[in-house]
Order: sequence, then structure tokens, then C-alpha cells
Amino acid sequence: MSIRNDFPVLGRHSRGRPLVYLDNAATTQKPQVVIDAISRYYQTCNANVHRAAHDLAEQATTAMEDARAKLCGFIHARQVEEIIFTRGTTESINLVANVLTGRIQDGHDIVITELEHHSNIVPWQMLAQRTGARLKVIHVDDGGNIDLNDAEKKITQNTALVAFTHVSNGLGNINPVQQLIDLAKSKDALTLVDGAQAALHLPLDVQTLDCDFYVFSGHKVYAPTGIGVLYGRYELLCELPPWQGGGEMIEHVTFAESTYQLPPYRFEAGTPNIADTIGLGAAIDYLQTIPRQQLAATEDQLVAKALAGLQQIPGVRIVGEPERRLAVISFLLEGGHPNDVGTLLDQQGVAVRAGHHCNMPLMQRLDVPGTVRASFSLYNNEDDVTRLLEAVDKAKTFL
Ligand SMILES: Cc1ncc(COP(=O)(O)O)c(C=O)c1O
Repeated sequence: MSIRNDFPVLGRHSRGRPLVYLDNAATTQKPQVVIDAISRYYQTCNANVHRAAHDLAEQATTAMEDARAKLCGFIHARQVEEIIFTRGTTESINLVANVLTGRIQDGHDIVITELEHHSNIVPWQMLAQRTGARLKVIHVDDGGNIDLNDAEKKITQNTALVAFTHVSNGLGNINPVQQLIDLAKSKDALTLVDGAQAALHLPLDVQTLDCDFYVFSGHKVYAPTGIGVLYGRYELLCELPPWQGGGEMIEHVTFAESTYQLPPYRFEAGTPNIADTIGLGAAIDYLQTIPRQQLAATEDQLVAKALAGLQQIPGVRIVGEPERRLAVISFLLEGGHPNDVGTLLDQQGVAVRAGHHCNMPLMQRLDVPGTVRASFSLYNNEDDVTRLLEAVDKAKTFL
């Protein structure tokens, strides 16, 4: 299938068998066009951006700013200045948590959910410790679905910010983001949506969502590691202070004081990750050549087939019952710790993730030691599903 041919690593073997890559929620593989865009940058126009007065610097700057414009279109932001480049989701959330420090105080609540990745928990815990605010957690039901009644109770007039994931990395739920945003807005609370698992699979429109911040990582959308996006509503960004100081983010510096650039540069101190930003732009171009509906239909079919197949294997327990599932299946195999099952699958050339998936509180809530997680992407096919099912079946015989 031609899409598979776009991703060179998929042609390799692992443990002596053709690789089956089902660890896409951790990171996606990279198409040749992205690899080429990065090497072309280094081969033809490597230079620092936004400053030097020479041809190469101008080309590098144009390529980087083109990528910003592509991202703006990709998430349907109002203007390019709303796109801030970071190292990834984690850095985007830490950036927001830092620049909000002056706005949060004792008596405020920061509200998250039980589904969050550690990177959408720990920065808020740290912010709460700095400011005296309280961290409140919206519960999920036994299937791992967000309890909207609890959300209504937890989001109050004291809520300063509500931060939640668009899609759960642990269970694959598509969350009721619009309801949560509307609820938060009805109490004048800010909203941050963690789009790390959504950006590859769902059409994004931050204007329709009307969130204040939306964050995701390049490496989960076929782009390189080390580059990510923070979308922020422009008027809000203009009100917020910088978080790191240095070159690029300033307007004027004296020893007495400094003034700062407008967003996005205010939040991008130092030489940026130019090559990977260009790689991210190439990944967005690539993604946009694939009709989103085709993407969703392919993934849905594979997930449905894998789910049905796993459910028929005695001893398999599916963890979580998402009302709307996206590209992720978490499961346990009777008699085996998830890590051991992961190793047994790996020995058969099937790459999955095993463990807590940076969801320790969620694992505690569901009372499981962790899970084995198979996560799908556009380049997976029915053979991958068959190999997964065979490998799980065989793993059983070792336990
Ligand atoms: C839902 C979610 N949020 C945040 C992150 C953190 O992303 P990164 O490690 O790229 O910063 C991940 C990564 O797995 C994730 O799945």
C-alpha cells in the first residue's frame, strides 16, 4: 500500500520478523518527505533565523515562518501570531503554567481530570504549590469516561483554569471537550486542551472549540521530536508575561530593564529548533494530502477488528470502555504483567507499549498495574492486526 511506502522504517524487520508498529500513541514514524525537508534545510539554507542580513538567513526564516502559517491553518487559528513553537506538549503546558503564575492565587481552583497524562498534572501541581491554589480532579466512571455531572460540581466560580485532554492516551476516549470548554467559560475560567493524541486523528478548529490554549507535539503527527505547538488566543497571549528571557523575545534591553516582543516571539527565547519546525511544516503538508475521512475510516476499521479479535482470545481483558474510541486499545492478559506481555509481543516483532503510559493516577483509579497498549495510525493495515492477535495468542502459552 502506497502510504506504507512513504515511511521508510516500516520496511524493516524487528526480532527477525517484519516490523509491526503499534506504538503510535507514543510516537509516530516519519514519512520520507519529512526526513527530506530536514536534510534539505541543513544542506541548502542552514542559518539562524530572524536576525542575519544574508540570503541563507532569509530563506531559513521564510521556511520557518511558512511552517507557522501551515500550523495556523491546520488548527484553524485566527492569526499566525497565535502559534508558538515549543519542544512539545510538555513544554507547552509548562509554559502556560509558568506565565499564568501571576493570575492564579490562593482561593483559586485549577481543575483537571483523572484521564490526564502526567504532563497535564504535574505542571498544575507545581503552579498550585507556587500560588496556594487548589488542584481539583474530575472523576471518570469505571469505563474511564469523564463524569460530566462531577465536572459541573468541580468547575465553579473559583475555577481559574480547566485543563484536560482531548483524547486519552491511556484508553483512547475522545472526550466531551466542547461541553467542558462551555462549562469552564460559563464560570469565566480559562481552558487548556491537551491535543497530543488528537492532532493526528481529528480535524482541529480552535475557533469553534473556543479554548484559550491548545497544545500538541510534532512527533505524534509524523514530525520530528523536539518540536511542538502552543496555540493561545492572541489577546490573552498579549496580556501574559514571558517565561524565558534571552535573545529573540526582547524589543529593547538595558541593564535597568527590558521590554518584550509581541507574541509569538515573546515566548520563543533563544535560537529556535529551526530544522524540526520545518520538518513539522512538511508533516502538516503530508497530512493534508490525505483526506481526513479516509484516515479516520481506516483507523476505525483496524481498531474495530483488533478489538473484536482481542475480545475473542480467552484471558484478554480490555481496559476501559470509551464511549467514543480513537486509535488506542488498552488490555491485560491473564497471568502476565503488562511489561512481560509487552516483551513477549516484542519478541514476535510487534511493537506496543506496556506500563502506566504516564497515567499513574488513571491506572490507580481503574485498579490495574498498567496495561498493554496497541495504538494505530494510518499506515497500519489488516496484516498488522492479524500479527497482533497471533502474537497475543502465542504470548498466552508462555504465561
Ligand atoms: C495526552 C498526552 N499528553 C501529553 C503528552 C506528552 O507529550 P510529549 O512527551 O511529546 O511532551 C503525551 C505523550 O504521550 C500524551 O499522550
